[in-house]
Amino acid sequence: MTEKNTYLEDKFGLAGKTAVVTGGGGVLAGAIVKDFVLAGANVILWGRNQSTLDNKVEQLTKEALPAERLATVEIDLLQEDKIAAALKESVARFSKIDILVNGVGGSSKRCSFVDLDTTEYEDIVRQNLLAGCVLPSKQIAKYWIENNLPGNILNIASMGSFVPLSGGWAYSAAKAAVVNQTMAMAKELAPYNIRVNAVAPGFFLGKQNRKLLVNEDGTPTERGENILARTPIARFGNPEEVASACVFLASKAAAFITGVTLPVDGGYLCDNI
Ligand SMILES: NC(=O)c1ccc[n+]([C@@H]2O[C@H](COP(=O)([O-])OP(=O)(O)OC[C@H]3O[C@@H](n4cnc5c(N)ncnc54)[C@H](O)[C@@H]3O)[C@@H](O)[C@H]2O)c1
Repeated sequence: MTEKNTYLEDKFGLAGKTAVVTGGGGVLAGAIVKDFVLAGANVILWGRNQSTLDNKVEQLTKEALPAERLATVEIDLLQEDKIAAALKESVARFSKIDILVNGVGGSSKRCSFVDLDTTEYEDIVRQNLLAGCVLPSKQIAKYWIENNLPGNILNIASMGSFVPLSGGWAYSAAKAAVVNQTMAMAKELAPYNIRVNAVAPGFFLGKQNRKLLVNEDGTPTERGENILARTPIARFGNPEEVASACVFLASKAAAFITGVTLPVDGGYLCDNI
């Protein structure tokens, strides 16, 4: 009789871990929720709209994911003073938190530089940098340090972190800052056994950019065609391809990796002429 091979579960499995996934009702973040549960974790979805969270949980349980390993907390992550209560409720549900995935984010309408609207610019930076990275990380890192627990933070950057997306001024600036803060947090939190990494998704047909990338008949828009021409793998990504990169970074297999931003982009960043 052959022994069961446990290599994958031991190295990449998340059984016994609990993750908070902010923006968990979203397209990419929802795919991360799904893969984390499939890898064995409990997942608590944090988001500002309870019905979006409920819909995502309903969709996942219809796909046969175990409802007892999913929970939700309604919270607007721009309200820092509400985060401690969300954390308390989450710890009460699964006894501890091991992983934070910062999945909140969102882009804005494109515009020329001279037409920038300062209020909109600030809103996008607040959504992607404060709500989408800094505020939840600050509060959960504090909880890990105070309780002497190891921790693991995953941020979501973008191609705009490295090469600004034309017309996406505030989004690119905020996502560049996410890479910067990932490195800064990784350095400062390493002595507390807290790792901090990020993924940088290329172009996915998520809610935020489907209309920018494909027409109603499924053919690429002009911008979509430009992107495909610059993507060596020559297609848009599937959300589960970001999710599996997140499982890797959250797993024991990545125990010596901190401060990196892993592109999941079909080669977009290495395109050349
Ligand atoms: N979809 C893509 O192609 C793509 C590409 C690169 C990067 N990203 C990034 O990946 C991350 C996840 O993207 P997604 O496709 O899941 O986004 P999405 O727009 O589908 O979902 C974002 C979720 O965040 C929630 N949210 C927004 N602001 C919030 C706040 N202040 N408090 C609480 N919840 C809030 C929204 O309700 C929504 O459910 C984002 O940071 C996004 O910028 C996405």
